[in-house]
Order: sequence, then structure tokens, then C-alpha cells
Amino acid sequence: MSLTNFPGGGSSSPGVPIAKVTMPALAEMKRQGKPISALTAYDYATSRLVDEAGIDLVLVGDSLAMVVLGHDNTLSVTVDEMLHHTRAVRRAVRRAVVVADMPFGSYHGTVAEGVANAVRFVKEAGAEAVKIEGPRAELVRALADAEIPVVAHLGLTPQSVNRMGGYRVQARTADAVLQLKADAHALADAGASLMVLEGVPREVAAAITAELTIPTIGIGAGPDCDGQILVFHDLLNLTFAAPAKFVRRYGDAAALIRSAVEHYREDVEHRAFPSDEESYHLPEAARKALQPESSTLPKVATLRKA
Ligand code: KIV
Repeated sequence: MSLTNFPGGGSSSPGVPIAKVTMPALAEMKRQGKPISALTAYDYATSRLVDEAGIDLVLVGDSLAMVVLGHDNTLSVTVDEMLHHTRAVRRAVRRAVVVADMPFGSYHGTVAEGVANAVRFVKEAGAEAVKIEGPRAELVRALADAEIPVVAHLGLTPQSVNRMGGYRVQARTADAVLQLKADAHALADAGASLMVLEGVPREVAAAITAELTIPTIGIGAGPDCDGQILVFHDLLNLTFAAPAKFVRRYGDAAALIRSAVEHYREDVEHRAFPSDEESYHLPEAARKALQPESSTLPKVATLRKA
């Protein structure tokens, strides 16, 4: 942490009121045909940049298990870890809707357990909605009854990786399409506020988007959804892996970070950092007061050579 730059100490437009995005505002965007932009984020600095860039919805995705914590899949991340990251994002985001992903195991038991865990994300971390994977209409209804907006997630649901046998595009047969549509309607009827459609054919996502009154947010689901979401690390080349077909890289943060850090290391190794301008100096009075000992205080001009 810098000595002089405090968190929250600056704003892109100080004093300008921010039009907060809300869950009802996202529904209104669908009605007006305005695309919804969504992105994952997991920490204060990147969430703040994402929010200041005008993204409508920030998802603290359980993908953090892989892209932040280095696990092979999303299954091991815990409620406490998700809460920790959601709090950091909450402190940064002022405009976008903050959605917390409920991790594997936190809503797979009883409905009451699922509601209790969802309440923690709202109460302890400031989430405005929670996201759950799979066709769980009963839980969605209970969460809606508890005043917790729900983002449903259908299609390729990464928490089902063991059942699916890998990350595969879903709904590729007529039967699977009909089942997906039925699930989508059941979740919307149960009170889901939004629906993420992941890894499904474009035609299927387009049909569901046309049929539902709630907004759909696509990832690997083609351009006809009401909005799009990507994983922050995919967008910026921070995954150390070839991108999936649906990913578009908008920047190369890996190259930027690598080059900056290498440059810093070289400067340290060549004593080119820090410079005298980047150093603190004794005030004149203190220097004078220490005059008798000045022989032990090196002159600034000679410091570099020492
Ligand atoms: O965890 C996540 O990042 C997600 C998005 C990919 C939708 O669920």
C-alpha cells in the first residue's frame, strides 16, 4: 500500500452522483432492448476499475477458485473464501450490481441451508444477489421469498464438472434443448431475476432469451442474449492457457505485468531504483542538529557512490 494513496481517496468524477444499477434496472434494460454488460471480479483494485469502466453487473464468480487461487476446478472454494472476496469487491463497487456466486456444497443440501448461506452473502458481504447453478426452482422460490434476488445459471454449469465429465457445450440434442427450456421457464416462474446461459448453442440461447421476460446473460452462448459476461482473467490474458472459442481478449495484462516486473527487477539489480528523488531526506534542522555527528552522516551527493 502506498503511503500517500488511500483507498477510496479518489474518484474519477468527484461530487458527481452515480446512477446506481439495480436488479430492477437490469430488467428494465431488457424491456428497452439495451444490452447488459457483466464481468467477473474478485478483488478491490480490479473491481474498482471494472466499476469505473461502466460495467453493469460484477459477479464474484466461483471461477476465482481457478483464476485467483490456482485450483483445477471450482469445487473446492468455500463459503468463507467467497465471502472474503465478495467483501473486497463490495468495498470497491459503487455503481454496478454486485452478485456473489454460491460455491459448490453451499446450496446442495436442504433449502433452509441454501437460504442460510445466501443470507450470509447479503448480510456479511453486501451482495445484492446470489447466483446458483442448475435447475433448483424450489430453492429459487425460497430465496425470492427471503428477498434475495437470484441469478440462475443453466447450460454448462462448472460445478457439475464431474457429472458432465468435463467442460462441454450443453443442449446439443432436441431432448436436451427441450429440457433446458423447461428448466429455464421453471426457474423464471420460481422468481429468478436473471439467467446466465453458459456453453449452449447460439440458437438455443436465442430462443430462451426470446421466451423469458427476465434478462439472459450469455457466456459462450452467442450474441442474442440480453447481456454478456466474461471472466476477467480471460478478457485480459491472465489464465496461462489457450482461450476457449467464446473468449475475446481485449488486453494483454500478462505481457504488461511481466514487462513491468522485469524492468523493476533490472533496475533494482543495477541500483537504478530508487533514485534520490524517490528517497526521503532529513529536514535541514535535523541535519544541522546532528552536525557534530555529521562525519557519520553521508552527504546526499556521495550516497550513490557509497
Ligand atoms: O464463476 C464464474 O465466473 C461464472 C461465470 C463464468 C458466469 O459462473
